[in-house]
Amino acid sequence: MAYSDKVLDHYENPRNVGTFEKGDTSVGTGMVGAPACGDVMKLQIKVGENGVIEDARFKTYGCGSAIASSSLLTEWVKGKTLEEASQIKNTEIAEELALPPVKVHCSVLAEDAIKAAISDFQQKNGEEKVA
Ligand code: FES
Ligand code: FES
Repeated sequence: MAYSDKVLDHYENPRNVGTFEKGDTSVGTGMVGAPACGDVMKLQIKVGENGVIEDARFKTYGCGSAIASSSLLTEWVKGKTLEEASQIKNTEIAEELALPPVKVHCSVLAEDAIKAAISDFQQKNGEEKVA
């Protein structure tokens, strides 16, 4: 299957790959798997005092579309509040990357991962759920 230019760009030059230190309470971690294919995505956010996401990291064991979806997502969430980040839809990611229908679940993985990272952060910090 042919990947779009945007997928290839993120696949070849992934943004924000890596992990933040464990145990840091300003970090939220989301780890999700796709039942459809067994791919796994780990997404982390670093949240500032003001509740704005300052930085993000990801590690994805999966296909090019999953890597591109998580790479794109780490760019999108920076500078957003948790509330704003929780509203990012997989359809926006799929559209931006021009994912074909069989690859839409890869963008769902990214949406699930950011939601999981946000709720992990909130749990650590005893905050109300927004996602
Ligand atoms: Fe997940 Fe493509 S099926 S890598
Ligand atoms: Fe399953 Fe991409 S995450 S094929």
